[in-house]
Amino acid sequence: MYLSKEEERILNGEFGEGKRKALEILLAIGKIYDADRLMPIKSAHISGVSYNNIGDAGLDFLREFSVEAKVSVKATLNPGGVDPSRWQEMGIDEDFTRKQMEVVNVFRRMGVETTLTCTPYLVGNTPSKGDHIAWGESSAVAYANSVLGAMTNRESGISALAAAIIGKTPRYGMHVKEERVPKVRVKLKVKLREPSDFGALGYIISKKIGGEVPWIEGIKNAGIEELKMLSASIATYTGLPIFHIPGITAEWRDFDVPREVVEIDDIDMKDAYEYLSESFDGIDLVWIGCPHTTVEELRKIARLLEGKSVKTELWITTSRRVRQEAEKLGYIRIIGGAGAKVICDTCVVVAPLKGKFKTLVTNSAKACYYCRGVNNFMVKVANLEKCIEAALKGIWIE
Ligand code: F3S
Repeated sequence: MYLSKEEERILNGEFGEGKRKALEILLAIGKIYDADRLMPIKSAHISGVSYNNIGDAGLDFLREFSVEAKVSVKATLNPGGVDPSRWQEMGIDEDFTRKQMEVVNVFRRMGVETTLTCTPYLVGNTPSKGDHIAWGESSAVAYANSVLGAMTNRESGISALAAAIIGKTPRYGMHVKEERVPKVRVKLKVKLREPSDFGALGYIISKKIGGEVPWIEGIKNAGIEELKMLSASIATYTGLPIFHIPGITAEWRDFDVPREVVEIDDIDMKDAYEYLSESFDGIDLVWIGCPHTTVEELRKIARLLEGKSVKTELWITTSRRVRQEAEKLGYIRIIGGAGAKVICDTCVVVAPLKGKFKTLVTNSAKACYYCRGVNNFMVKVANLEKCIEAALKGIWIE
């Protein structure tokens, strides 16, 4: 890999041990992926924040790293394992909460903005088309590449942190325009009506075309809510960091329409919902907010809950910034009045909730995948209205 004079000096330790270590990490990754050089980035988004996932070994590593290392570009943080103001309501113990806060404080000392959200693009980390960035969190990566047209590989927590410290990332993969070319034309013969349908679509695409970059035709309108759901689902089920939708995503004019065609119809959609929904009646938890909700979603939830009371746990996960905005608009008061919880800084997947619930209803296909795989929950996926109805009734009625 080509190294500039300054990079050579960093590697010789002239700028401290933290920077030297960070550069070594980037060079090791660059070597694996055959990158030719490092390139400057506009921002980083760092995953691997939950103490539930990183444990004491991760915390020790970060502590040591933080002594000398500081980030040199805008850097935001993915959710941790607990909302520190609601740990008791979440059934999480004090010791875990203390450790999680220590993790967050270490990142803060390094200059990272402790946003604790998987939707950094809703809280001020909003790159433009063509910007090179180094983001972790697969759903945010797919959103940044596809919707915003920024360029990022799917970074790990440690590689995103190293990139934030050096302000550069190895040039390979999604940083190269040719790697972003759509390969299969996906024609939708079914109308997508709800954000949850966009989640189901990610699952269908994985079944029909696997890991080829899709060019998805047949979507007339899609807002942030639909696109974040599709980004999360495509990244989860196909592992892809990018997709294109003519007329909607950022780079659709930059590429030719692929020749290979695959169609998706209402039978595929029905099959997807069947796959995403297991059979049970009693509901332990209803979860909205994977990825973290927008203010608009909180407005809809407040409208559906106004003057009513939930009969089962209803958790809505979001960022602190979005919660504050929704608070000013009166949505949080209405949602809280119905007995639901608006939880910040974390989510049901990265919090230590294994064994605490058995059955989950959600509107997110990504949540379904991880709550089955990580938490051993039985899961049903339905649209937002049906999820809220389930929380109000406390049981599932077909
Ligand atoms: Fe975000 Fe957790 Fe889902 S980090 S994308 S809410 S699994």
